[in-house]
Order: sequence, then structure tokens, then C-alpha cells
Amino acid sequence: MKKLKIGIVGLGRLGKVHAKNIAYKIPNAELTAACSIVEAELEFAKSELGVTDVYTDYKEMLAKADIDAVCIVTTSSEHCWQIEAALDAGKHVFSEKPLGVDVAQCKQAEAAVERHPELTFMLGFMRRYDKSYLYAKNLVDKGAIGTPYLVKATGIDPEAAVQGAIRFAKNSGGIFLDMAIHDIDLCRWFLNSDATEVYALGSTFKHPEFKEAGDDETGVAVYKFANGAMAMVHVGRTAPYGYHVETEVVGTEGTIRISAVPEKNLATVYGPAGVCTECVGSFPERFEEAYLTEMEEFVDCVLNKKTPGVNVYDGTKSTAIGYATTEAWKTGKPVKINL
Ligand SMILES: NC(=O)c1ccc[n+]([C@@H]2O[C@H](COP(=O)([O-])OP(=O)(O)OC[C@H]3O[C@@H](n4cnc5c(N)ncnc54)[C@H](O)[C@@H]3O)[C@@H](O)[C@H]2O)c1
Repeated sequence: MKKLKIGIVGLGRLGKVHAKNIAYKIPNAELTAACSIVEAELEFAKSELGVTDVYTDYKEMLAKADIDAVCIVTTSSEHCWQIEAALDAGKHVFSEKPLGVDVAQCKQAEAAVERHPELTFMLGFMRRYDKSYLYAKNLVDKGAIGTPYLVKATGIDPEAAVQGAIRFAKNSGGIFLDMAIHDIDLCRWFLNSDATEVYALGSTFKHPEFKEAGDDETGVAVYKFANGAMAMVHVGRTAPYGYHVETEVVGTEGTIRISAVPEKNLATVYGPAGVCTECVGSFPERFEEAYLTEMEEFVDCVLNKKTPGVNVYDGTKSTAIGYATTEAWKTGKPVKINL
């Protein structure tokens, strides 16, 4: 069996998840090199992943490592130049979201993808690979709820992780670019259309540090779409019960809700506190399977010359919509979106 040789760049929170999947869970992929600017992460690559070909310089990895493809899981501001460098070096690319932190960067990545039609590029909007989201999308596309006219998307991080979010707030680009990008992508995906106008608000009640950093704790955005549909995105960082990702798609003939109760599993606990199901605790837990499925799709697309379900234009559009949402939140005015 032909195996795809992959080099990973970035072995932080999510990089470790992707690296373990490639190294241990995908039979037709091999993790042959790793790069990070953090020495401890390279030690992790050697001791936990058995990868001895490690680099602190990304361009050196591209030039020297025995790799067919790269998996980019670095800080968001690094993605676009790393995508371009990899494609120009003849490597297939899987990149984490967001594509870039501004539209100009995204356009640079788009140009690189267009320069190399012989290479595969895929962006990591993993919710599209979650079993329940896929199931819902198939139903919507088959017309099970008639014409979808509204998406309500909720994404609230756990209070348990709030200190990390506070530390990151100054450089996060604001709550909408930081958090809403997945929800924006889902709205586009379910509605098969693009946003043309947005109005957004933010508020902070629990942790004033967010305001002090120029950010907000909670954000709500309302969108108008080109096909006449609407969307509403609610993002936050202080869910006391766990990680709350929920999406509702409303159509002329029915509604589909995905993860209406963000349950950890099928266990129900009967005790003094009542009859309870526990909430899923974090993004790696909730989307564990989706991270694996999306990487399997990338490997399959490269080896069998297929086209991945998430492309570079999905990346540019979601970033552009995220920017417009941020402008609407900051100015308090509706903003037109020209994609
Ligand atoms: N799809 C999702 O659900 C999801 C979830 C979390 C994070 N992400 C995305 O994944 C990316 C990584 O997030 P994270 O939480 O793992 O961040 P992190 O800070 O934990 O890890 C990023 C790593 O990138 C490395 N790095 C940064 N610049 C580098 C460079 N120039 N060369 C080599 N290594 C470099 C750093 O060593 C760092 O360890 C971000 O873009 C983030 O938006 C996506």
C-alpha cells in the first residue's frame, strides 16, 4: 500500500491531536518529520511519536525532509506563508483553520493553490466531518426540511478554560474572528449561500479582562444571505457546564438540531442532583472523531486524486465574513459583505 509521508508543523494543543492521528491511526499515512519553534514539542515528537527527523526551521523541513505533504497546525498568522512555501516546494497541504488572519493573506494562499492545480489543498473545518453534522447536511440537501431559511449556531467555550482565553484575548483578533469562524462556515455550508450583510453585538459580564483587552466575553451576530436566508451566531467563553456547540437549521418543512443537548456520552446519572447527562468538556473531546475523519479524507484525496470537501475559497470567505462581523461589532452598525 502506498503511504503518504507527512511532515507536521506546530505541535501545540491541536498539533498533537493531528500528529497522533497521522502517526498511529491512518494506515495509509506516515508521520516522517516534525517542525516546531518550541524545543519541548520536538522532544514530544521523538519520544511520543517516534519521529526523529525534526526541525526548528520550517523552510529547512520543506527542503530536506522525506515528505509528500505537510500538515500546518501553527499559530493562525503563520498559515498562509507556510501554505504558499509548501505548495511552491511541491508538497500537498492540509492547513488548520482559519486560512489566514486577513483577507490579503488569504488571497496569497489562494494564488498559491491556483498555481499548483496538481497538488491537493484542504482546510481543516472539521465540523463538516463530524458524523452528526454530516448526517444533518445530507438531510438538508435531500430536502428533508424543505428550504432551509435560518441557521442558529452556538459555540460557547467552557469556563474551565477561560483563563487561557483571557491570556490570548489581546492577540485573538476579537471574539468573532477567534471563535465564530467555524459557525460562519457552517452557516455557509448549510445554506449553500454567502452572507451579504451582518449586524453584531458583544457584551462582558463575568470577566472584565476581556473588555480591558479590547475584546468581549460573548458575541451575537445576525446575517443576511444572498439567497434570502438568515443566520444567527452566538459565541461565548463562559459555559459553566462544559463545551457547548449546538446548531439548528430551520427550513420551510422542519428543523434539524445538532447537539441540542451537548452530551458527553449516552450515560445518564441518577443521583441526589437529579437525573443528569454530563456535558462534553472540550473541543478535542467533542470532535475527536472528526479530526481523524478529516485527515483520512485529506490522505485519501491526495492518494486517489480526489477533491477535498473544504477548499481554499471556503477559507477566504469565512475570514472575510469574520472581518465584516468584527467591524459590525466594533462600529455598532450593519456592514455589507462583498465576497
Ligand atoms: N479546528 C479546530 O477546532 C481548532 C481547534 C484549536 C485550534 N485550531 C487552530 O490550530 C492552530 C493551532 O492552534 P493551537 O491551539 O494548537 O495553538 P498552540 O499555540 O497550542 O500551538 C501552535 C504551535 O505552533 C508552533 N509554531 C508557531 N509558529 C511557528 C513557526 N513559524 N514554525 C514552526 N512552529 C511554529 C508553536 O510552536 C506552537 O506550539 C491555530 O491556527 C488554531 O486556530 C483549530
